[in-house]
Amino acid sequence: MPSHRPRAAASTAARQLSTRIERRTAHLSIVGLGYVGLPLAVEFGKAGFKVTGIDTDEKRVRELQRGVSYIPDVPTADVQELVRSGRLEATTDFAVLRKADAVNICVPTPLSKQRDPDVSFIVAATEQLAKHVHKGMLVILESTTYPGTTEELILPRLQETGLTVGRDFFLAFSPERVDPGNPRFNTKNIPKVVGGVTPTCTEMAVQLYRQRLERVVPVSSPQVAEMV
Ligand SMILES: NC(=O)c1ccc[n+]([C@@H]2O[C@H](COP(=O)([O-])OP(=O)(O)OC[C@H]3O[C@@H](n4cnc5c(N)ncnc54)[C@H](O)[C@@H]3O)[C@@H](O)[C@H]2O)c1
Repeated sequence: MPSHRPRAAASTAARQLSTRIERRTAHLSIVGLGYVGLPLAVEFGKAGFKVTGIDTDEKRVRELQRGVSYIPDVPTADVQELVRSGRLEATTDFAVLRKADAVNICVPTPLSKQRDPDVSFIVAATEQLAKHVHKGMLVILESTTYPGTTEELILPRLQETGLTVGRDFFLAFSPERVDPGNPRFNTKNIPKVVGGVTPTCTEMAVQLYRQRLERVVPVSSPQVAEMV
């Protein structure tokens, strides 16, 4: 398997993040703990990462804090074990992003009357993220959306902070293509397409997914991944 560690010319932030991912000491955060976000949080937790889930739904957060799953594909026993061992936490407080090395955005994008994805949840999550983005952070959008969302909507807002993508922070798109209830393909074995804003962004995101998922397919940009 080819190495997905960053090349020697990569920034210090990239090399440090890569080491944390490889050693599984990276602290992960999942924004949006529904059909997509909760299974992902559990997969990363099982891989040995410490995962903090953030959701605006207080009831869901309370259930997870008690170790209870509300998603049929995710057994309560798995959540219970991860919560008990401290590898899975849930909160409504976005300030935890200050300590996150990587963030996966899994918020809803319901279709509008015109059948366009409603990106208002992505915008709301990005606003929160912009308050806490920091050097060395990897941000991956997983919500289903239209081509251009990552680079036109998220990137400019995060760069307003003065941080530079590909050097200080890393941004990628990777659509969740899971089919809940499918007996053959699940979060772990469905091929994951990943497109970063820069080659280092792609490498960082691919490296993270390879810690747990079986098939990760790098593509040249977020737009290519958004068209899958
Ligand atoms: N469910 C599927 O089968 C499936 C498959 C592939 C892709 N997707 C896509 O994945 C994305 C997530 O879908 P889902 O099915 O997991 O949705 P969901 O409704 O099951 O879960 C979304 C969660 O995000 C939370 N949320 C909403 N706004 C938030 C915010 N600003 N910050 C934090 N949390 C917030 C909600 O409270 C909810 O718990 C969507 O774009 C969807 O199209 C879903």
